[in-house]
Amino acid sequence: MQPLSRRTHTCGELRAEHAGQTVTLQGWVHFVRNKGQLIFIVLRDRYGTVQLTVNETSSAEVLAIADRVRLEYVLEITGEVQLRGEGLANRKMETGEIEVFPSQFRILSQTKPLPFTIGNETMKASEEVRLKHRYLDLRRPELQRNLLLRHKTTLAARRYLDGLSFVEVETPVLTRSTPEGARDYLVPSRVHPGHWYALPQSPQIFKQLLMVSGLDRYFQIVKCFRDEDLRADRQPEFSQIDLEMSFATRELVMDIAEGMARTVWSEVIGKTLAEDAFPIITYTESMARFGVDNPDVRFAMEHTTLDWSDTGFSVVKNAVEAGGIVKAMVVKGAAGDTSRKGINAWTEFVKRYRLGGLLWGKVTEKGWTGPLGKIEAENQAKIPGVSLGDIVLVAAGPAAHVNAGLGRLRAHIARERGLYPAGMHAFCWVVDFPAFDHDEDEDRWVACHHPFTKPLDEHIPLLAQNRHGEIFSDAYDLVCNGYEILGGSIRIHDAAVQSQVFTALGLTENEARDKFGFLLDALQYGAPPHGGWAAGLDRWVMLLCGTENIRDVIAFPKTTSGADLMAGAPSTVTGEQLVELSVKNTVELADE
Ligand code: AMO
Repeated sequence: MQPLSRRTHTCGELRAEHAGQTVTLQGWVHFVRNKGQLIFIVLRDRYGTVQLTVNETSSAEVLAIADRVRLEYVLEITGEVQLRGEGLANRKMETGEIEVFPSQFRILSQTKPLPFTIGNETMKASEEVRLKHRYLDLRRPELQRNLLLRHKTTLAARRYLDGLSFVEVETPVLTRSTPEGARDYLVPSRVHPGHWYALPQSPQIFKQLLMVSGLDRYFQIVKCFRDEDLRADRQPEFSQIDLEMSFATRELVMDIAEGMARTVWSEVIGKTLAEDAFPIITYTESMARFGVDNPDVRFAMEHTTLDWSDTGFSVVKNAVEAGGIVKAMVVKGAAGDTSRKGINAWTEFVKRYRLGGLLWGKVTEKGWTGPLGKIEAENQAKIPGVSLGDIVLVAAGPAAHVNAGLGRLRAHIARERGLYPAGMHAFCWVVDFPAFDHDEDEDRWVACHHPFTKPLDEHIPLLAQNRHGEIFSDAYDLVCNGYEILGGSIRIHDAAVQSQVFTALGLTENEARDKFGFLLDALQYGAPPHGGWAAGLDRWVMLLCGTENIRDVIAFPKTTSGADLMAGAPSTVTGEQLVELSVKNTVELADE
């Protein structure tokens, strides 16, 4: 540790071996109990807490100052470390074997009444109040630990990648739109009236250009900006560990991602990931077995696609006739402790995903109860893995709705029933994504990842035949506990194929040139085959910290509506500013 200015020690480091020493400590008052001639103060800094004891043996001056102390005052004390008496050690405190008796006592800083107290009580304040006073919320040891884990994660990743000859290069923040599927944040140019920069949704094009430049191996820990609907694992500005390499094969690039995960897990939380920690499944298999492309593989409860085309059960029959699918999911041993109300709640849950409802049945000694009890026995028998005491759930409808509804319900029920142990991390790769998704509302093809993803070699000829729905790509996502924590692909390095993909996405030649001309040009000047990925740093740290709220791992996060409650962003600007930026013509207009 570097010298600590006037401090001789930090609050967290004092142990029995320091007994008898005179120390100087600085920190915040975490707790105070004032019994007149006996005052206990717990002093806190980033490194821990320690008890100060002021009593009748203290000087009158020290007693008088200690008497004025309130929670979160900043103190400097000098005093003697003493062992606590026999049986008086506090096992809950790391410094619990000792206490410090101040002989000098200074209040360095006082506080206004606090909006909330720090420590466990903090949780009683609403998140809104805590975000407004984020600098106070960040005093909480838990949040400090999270920021420390984040620091260790980036340090471990940087060291690991540096060891493999990856070079960290910064790319522009004021740039053109990069297509990652969200809306852009735009910045008006003052110098070029009517022209706008876009903040990067990712450094995708720049990192590909660095490969054309011969940099060979690039990485960057970088902020990305996406204007999209926020969720518990999404922020409008978030960080990626972004990587690209030349002459890459899918295996090599995936290997490097696994190596980074192994290094980070081991260095940051001391966990060794098993040899077989990274199973690989295809997108098609993932959708069939789990209904989603980011499966949580901490537990089973897999889906089975059923051939119930011969049923007389009208809901199912109609769905199948309309081109839909039928899927079943078995909730093991749930019949006994799941009420009708519980099952109704699951039915309501799937309706959010545009399913009409669920067919259910409890497997009892007397046969199946519920709507599924009315289904033909031979169709019941097609559902594998059913035994006494289970609940069987069946959904029928358009594939997208059945998969989403039953897929999200799988994770919901697993959480409700505690089907996995706390602290478990289960990874899986999902590979071979469709190259294009069909946007039903706009009746056009959109890129499933981004438009620079290479279709599988054997599918490239299908581009010219307009068979976009049959094309799969050389793309891979890494998933952990149901979170997509990394995504990447082998890229198109042939300008002609890239142009074909733009055409498939409905861009005219002029539009493609206008948006991506610089990339198309670069690809014609000796572009090496290349590929890479980007890891969602915030999600990695969430998993390492064991939190499900992305805001817990970001120092100054935004709310779900994209607001910074502390700084008050976004905010209005003056009419003059808008006019100067040519966003409005006159100040009067701007002030309307
Ligand atoms: P992608 O869009 O999959 O790929 O992003 C990579 C990873 O970033 C994380 N992520 C997010 N984290 C928090 N908040 C968000 N709003 C958010 N959006 C994405 C996820 C995701 O896996 N350029 C490509 C990468 C490549 O092809 O190399 C890209 O950005 O963990």
